[in-house]
Amino acid sequence: MQTPAAKKIVILGTGGTIAGTSAQPGDNTSYRAAQLGVSALLDTVPGLQTAVAGHAIEVEQLAQIDSKDMSQAVWLRLAQRVAYWAADPAVRGVVITHGTDTLEETAYFLHAVLAPVKPVVLACAMRPATALTPDGPQNLLDALATVMHPDARGVLAVCAGRVHGALQVRKLHPYRLDAFGSGEAGPLAVVEEGRLRLLQSWPPPASPCHTLMAALDSQSPWPRVEIVMSHAGADGAIVRALQNCAEGTSALRGLVVAGTGNGTLHEDLEAALLDAQRSGLRVWRSTRCAEGQVLPTPADRIPDSAGLSPVKARIALMLELLGAG
Ligand code: SIN
Repeated sequence: MQTPAAKKIVILGTGGTIAGTSAQPGDNTSYRAAQLGVSALLDTVPGLQTAVAGHAIEVEQLAQIDSKDMSQAVWLRLAQRVAYWAADPAVRGVVITHGTDTLEETAYFLHAVLAPVKPVVLACAMRPATALTPDGPQNLLDALATVMHPDARGVLAVCAGRVHGALQVRKLHPYRLDAFGSGEAGPLAVVEEGRLRLLQSWPPPASPCHTLMAALDSQSPWPRVEIVMSHAGADGAIVRALQNCAEGTSALRGLVVAGTGNGTLHEDLEAALLDAQRSGLRVWRSTRCAEGQVLPTPADRIPDSAGLSPVKARIALMLELLGAG
């Protein structure tokens, strides 16, 4: 996978708890995310040079945000910089420091837009850099170990010693250090003392869509796709409100519904969604279950999200609408 010329690893900083600080060293909850620059963050990581085995490290601070505030502008810049660095033959791979809250969305977005052959590894932390025992430095070392693996490719996420694929990764816990899972698929690998032990073969490289980057750059805002949820008492009023709330370029173009169980919908919500679909809105069905995926049936009147969680399906539908112009 790697050429001998690839002697550089690029680390892109975007903020998150990994770059967070608190006035109280023992405080793991009321800190401020995105305070330390990525260079300062790297200064706190012992053994960094050993981990990269003679590779040069190039650092860029792309953003400094709490990832709950992730925006179109940051995603566009991130995709552009990852594409730029991944195309450089001297670059072995890219690490992105990122908050945990929308990490799975960024991972899926980069996977869907770039389908990189080189490893692009998102690293994060559940504790701020000022914690008594921060987890960020170890997660960063593990991300670098992942980039260094000879077969590593595609968009990956590393947290608490486990390597997850972009399609499966999902935040499962608001506080635990091992906050991420890959559902039924399980993680791709574990990182043990700087070495990856593969639990399954690397996923095959995805096919890049060469026109998407240009579309992302030229269309602003990107097509609006919102997420609604089916629940007891869901009467569809939210769907009608969303259809009426915005016009012009910010008009609603698509909806993803997080259904109950196998993507089932409250009958009143379903009626509103079918009306919306008839009026030209794209509607996809996912499930609000944390694991598994919707199994399609011949009687389905609203297409399912092909296994994507609601937040990833929102991105996929948005990209589809964007690609369609
Ligand atoms: C964030 O997502 O930026 C804050 C929370 C975290 O990184 O754990």
